[in-house]
Amino acid sequence: MKGVILAGGLGTRLYPLTWATNKHLLPIYDKPMIFYPIDTLVKAGIKDVLVVSSGPHAGHFLRVLKNGKELGLNHLEYAFQEKPDGGIADALALAKDFADDGPITVVLGDNTTDADIKKEVSSFKDGAFVFLKKVPDPERYGVPEFDSKNKIIKIEEKPKSPKSNYAVTGLYIYDHSVFEIVKKIKPSDRGQLEITDVNNEYIKKQTLNWAELNGFWTDAGTFASLFKASSYWANK
Ligand code: G1P
Repeated sequence: MKGVILAGGLGTRLYPLTWATNKHLLPIYDKPMIFYPIDTLVKAGIKDVLVVSSGPHAGHFLRVLKNGKELGLNHLEYAFQEKPDGGIADALALAKDFADDGPITVVLGDNTTDADIKKEVSSFKDGAFVFLKKVPDPERYGVPEFDSKNKIIKIEEKPKSPKSNYAVTGLYIYDHSVFEIVKKIKPSDRGQLEITDVNNEYIKKQTLNWAELNGFWTDAGTFASLFKASSYWANK
């Protein structure tokens, strides 16, 4: 299993912090934000990783991550997304050659968790797998709708009236067909190729499975969530 960390975008919700560097290099307590998703992958046994970045500060990653050895990686590659606001699925498309026909575990670079995903990673066969977490503000996220057997029948991106109290976190496992799916989807109203649309294609094929993330989780792309993440890790 290889890993992909999506660390692009302009981080506009964190202006003025992101005028000077990429969002994923800002501190969560005592480490750059991107160290946390890298650690999640390494703990799951994934040591072959691609970082996809974009925007004016993409070069900063080299200075911080170097060749990844100090972080426990065996192999670290970088890719550059031309359109910083192209969306998560557009960034993921750049991992096609790196994935080399195999499955990939994808983590959004601003997600931090102490959950262990090793079991799901090692037992993954095909289709897609998402990790959910109960949140007080589901309207900020991709939100699953369940049938009576707790199967996900649809995911809505930032719905005004969420159908459940769960967020689809930014941790995903995909088989290689994800790259065909990404080619098929169309930009959303906000002009981005949405990862939620990719996941909905797997739902249509009845090949999307899920588990609840067992541990602390938050994104860190807003001032409130960045503060929450820093407080959690400082206390821990
Ligand atoms: C993205 C995804 C969303 C997901 C979230 C998790 O949102 O689009 O489905 O729930 O990450 O962090 P964004 O942070 O781009 O608004």
